[in-house]
Amino acid sequence: MSLSSNNVQSQIRVRISSRRRVADRIDEFELTPVDVASLPAWSAGAHIDLTTPAGPTRQYSLCSSPDEAGTYRIAVERRSDSRGGSVSVHDDLAVGSEVWISAPRNHFELTRALEYVFVAGGIGITPMLTLIEQARHSGRPWRLIYIGRTRAEMAFADDLLACHPRHVTVHESSHAGRLNLGVALAGLARGTAVYSCGPPSMMDAVADACAVQPAVDSFVERFTVSVHSAAPNEAFELSLAFSGVTVTVPEDRTIIDVLADRGVVAPSSCREGMCGTCETGVVSGEVDHRDSVLSPEERSENESMMICVSRCTSGRLVLEL
Ligand code: FES
Repeated sequence: MSLSSNNVQSQIRVRISSRRRVADRIDEFELTPVDVASLPAWSAGAHIDLTTPAGPTRQYSLCSSPDEAGTYRIAVERRSDSRGGSVSVHDDLAVGSEVWISAPRNHFELTRALEYVFVAGGIGITPMLTLIEQARHSGRPWRLIYIGRTRAEMAFADDLLACHPRHVTVHESSHAGRLNLGVALAGLARGTAVYSCGPPSMMDAVADACAVQPAVDSFVERFTVSVHSAAPNEAFELSLAFSGVTVTVPEDRTIIDVLADRGVVAPSSCREGMCGTCETGVVSGEVDHRDSVLSPEERSENESMMICVSRCTSGRLVLEL
């Protein structure tokens, strides 16, 4: 197998050191470094980018323990209806195969809260495993609502129920129908933080249930593109504060592509506003955020943006580049 990477210097070569089935169509892969003794440290909720043998780069949450320095583990659902990344991981990566990954990044960290509620849908359970461990160590009350079509398709459900029977609720929609999250999440205590990862419709329902409870914070981890701007694309002037470059970003081009034409190559991975690799500091200008990474609070702070998808609505933008 040949290795490919757009940005090999910043990437880490790993070998698949073990692989096991953890649910229908879901395998867990253990990744061990090839060129270095240990892998970068990470915190609960982090994900890596993995350059699949077929070419696309995909984001996968780490589901091992941050205390395990020598390996990472990810769990991947083989989705033949997706854009090919997960199929390549399943079909092309055997024990002994080598792939490139990024260092971990984290846009889904556990905040300080009085209580925690985790809502996972299907493979969205993966970031929850480490968040749950951190919540347990915090000593705060926590519970998990784990939604899937059938138990056989729900990775780690048996272990979670066996270890935490009073904290974990498993909802099989093939038997019980669609869970009403508005009811399941009603009446949360003040200071509760709700973390959700799963299908967009589920995360939207969680966000709706939290929005009517002002003393509750909601955090989502999206690995699908979901944010669309109401604003039409318009050209704007872009200045780089450190290099002094000024360019026009036409309505039909992205910031990152225009910069690449001028020889300014910014780090990037997904180029769809999902991974956070291209996050860039904003000096001035109104940003039209179109990513799935930043929280509403981070957007309103206007301190950074994803330059692979987001744009400017004030005619002029200055970036920390
Ligand atoms: S490259 Fe992934 S968010 Fe921009």
